[in-house]
Amino acid sequence: MAIDKEKEAAARASLRFIHQGNIVGLGTGSTAVYAVRLLGERVRDGLGIRGIPTSLPTQELAASVGIPLTTLDEFQQIDVTIDGADEVDPDLRLIKGGGGALLREKIVGSASRQYVIIVDSSKQVPVLGKFPLPVEIVPFAQAVVAKNIAALGASVRLRLNAFGKPFLTDEGHHILDCHFGQIKDPDGLARALERMPGVVEHGLFIGMADVVLVGKDDAVLELRREKN
Ligand code: A5P
Repeated sequence: MAIDKEKEAAARASLRFIHQGNIVGLGTGSTAVYAVRLLGERVRDGLGIRGIPTSLPTQELAASVGIPLTTLDEFQQIDVTIDGADEVDPDLRLIKGGGGALLREKIVGSASRQYVIIVDSSKQVPVLGKFPLPVEIVPFAQAVVAKNIAALGASVRLRLNAFGKPFLTDEGHHILDCHFGQIKDPDGLARALERMPGVVEHGLFIGMADVVLVGKDDAVLELRREKN
């Protein structure tokens, strides 16, 4: 099945996790776009939900398809969040942030009772790290953080926008795309990054995804994380 069909199929399968009255976290990226559009159709058919978007583009899309929006100021507990990912390993650890929204995505995901990830089959990997790990940083600390991450064994690149200027996140930070190759110890790397002053957040999402829906050929696989 073509990648776009797999994305759409995974997004469609995620709708069964959303119920009347839910507060729904709305993810970012091309797969989440399918989910937001499909959810808009359900809202037009009478489903009563409120959405909390993880980025400005998602906010605009959700509003345009008629999903009533709310904020974390009003609701600190989200019923279910539907979001994409850049890589998923067999323990349902994720790399996210290819679209630059990892900080808000991690905040919304961590405030969610159920965190449902939707991906096409190209995102499933045996070991994380082929996709460069996005790390959101304070611009003031850029050079020193880049040096410290390089010392962990990554090749580090500042993300640029279409005009060749540093890409700015919705919170006004920069992103370093850090290519590690195979990340043998994602938990250890996450801890090392969290100890670095100037790192706002990183794109390793560990122990967060409850369900991953993978569009694969004509089917959608449902993977569930073993709770510790
Ligand atoms: C956004 O910052 C990311 O975390 C996305 O969820 C991720 O990049 C997946 O995007 P696609 O669905 O476009 O591959």
